[in-house]
Amino acid sequence: MKTIIEPFKIKSIEPIIFTTREQREAFIAEAHYNVFLLHADDVLIDLLTDSGTTAMSARQWAGIMNGDEAYAGSRSYYRFENVLKELTGFSYVIPVHQGRAAEKILCSIVGGAGKVIPNNTHFDTTRANIEYSGARAVDLPVREGTQPEVIAPFKGNMDVAALEALIEDVGAENVPCCLLTLTNNSGGGQPVSMKNVRDVRAVCTKHGIPLILDVCRFAENAMFIKMREEGYATTSVRDIAKEMFSYGDGAMMSAKKDGMVNTGGFLALNSGVWAERARTVLIVTEGFPTYGGLARRDLEAMAIGLEEALDEAYLTYRLRSVQYLGERLKAAGVPILEPPGGHAIYLDARRLCDHIAPKDFPGQSIVCALYREAGIRSVEIGSVMFGTTSADGEHHGPAMELVRLAIPRRVYTQSHIDYVIEAIVNVYERRRELRGLRMTYEAPYLRHFTAHFEEL
Ligand code: F0G
Repeated sequence: MKTIIEPFKIKSIEPIIFTTREQREAFIAEAHYNVFLLHADDVLIDLLTDSGTTAMSARQWAGIMNGDEAYAGSRSYYRFENVLKELTGFSYVIPVHQGRAAEKILCSIVGGAGKVIPNNTHFDTTRANIEYSGARAVDLPVREGTQPEVIAPFKGNMDVAALEALIEDVGAENVPCCLLTLTNNSGGGQPVSMKNVRDVRAVCTKHGIPLILDVCRFAENAMFIKMREEGYATTSVRDIAKEMFSYGDGAMMSAKKDGMVNTGGFLALNSGVWAERARTVLIVTEGFPTYGGLARRDLEAMAIGLEEALDEAYLTYRLRSVQYLGERLKAAGVPILEPPGGHAIYLDARRLCDHIAPKDFPGQSIVCALYREAGIRSVEIGSVMFGTTSADGEHHGPAMELVRLAIPRRVYTQSHIDYVIEAIVNVYERRRELRGLRMTYEAPYLRHFTAHFEEL
């Protein structure tokens, strides 16, 4: 059989609400042309994020009912800890309410003025947490990782030579840890090869720098390794994941992605000294170490979700369904970042709207057009998210101007995706009518969440 089907059937449904174009025009204007400020009820197909938007399984919901809500020493915590220790091999597992809480805790241990923390590409909150601590966040993607039209198997890799050069330049004593994000979200949901993880590990070992993996999408990354990297075709995804983890000194995870839950995450470490410091911050900011800001039932759902994410029938369907969207768009001539990522398709806004300068936010213009056209919510990953304006008023944008269509796990069917394809192709055909935007309000950190815009 050629067709890869959803490896599940639907037991419980939730209506989506249809709106008219006139209504959407009013909603987007009221939201200051920022889709983060829309009411979700006014969105038909929500591809803003794959984070926390997962449909949980019947087993997970049953786990929720079985959760043990003890404040300390909950049975659900021990179950969660066992699953994670077995999977990751790390000595200490610290639950947190979501990924950025782990980032905050890590940065409070290793951050601070004068410190430099490299990554293949920092996610926005990771960068913000590092900068908020006073440290400098440096992106070191491989060259092809910033070239949307180049097709390569592991565009999420870190540039190992650039890592060496950075360490030489700033001094190993100023690099408190190195991060590596699997898959590379801000770089297009592109996977990192096992060889790259190993090579980064070797550089870190040489300079005595701990390597901390950002493993939000570890299962998708492991499946890509199985499909694309020599020597892994017959290895189980679980064993591939275990090998990836084995190269880290620790990991942080937003389990809202491959943990298949609506909220949750963890920081896992091998260093007892760091773990003790982390738990101290945890108790002050998140909660007691056996629940870390979560309901204990959430730990139960995470323990089950982490297992389900490693199911290869699920991962085959997951990667194939994202690829399907990419293939159809490409066939219609729509410029996308290639090849399709694990959790999302990224439109190449620079090519799609080459009549709008980066300083006028071409990606944001496409995001607004998709909402107006069809009630689809996407997100800009470009000059809105990562751009800055210097004192002389000059715009400094990132290497790529992208619009991400993130696919929630186990939520939408192929006909939803066919509708999305139709809408994007319609917008693409009328792309010359799109206009840029001007930012009229921005917050000092993570400005994309709350920025206001006006149409030019
Ligand atoms: N690291 C990566 C690679 C992420 O993609 C995210 C979140 C985080 C850390 C932070 O986790 O949201 O649980 O605090 N990414 C979401 C997204 C929000 O839409 O890509 P969080």
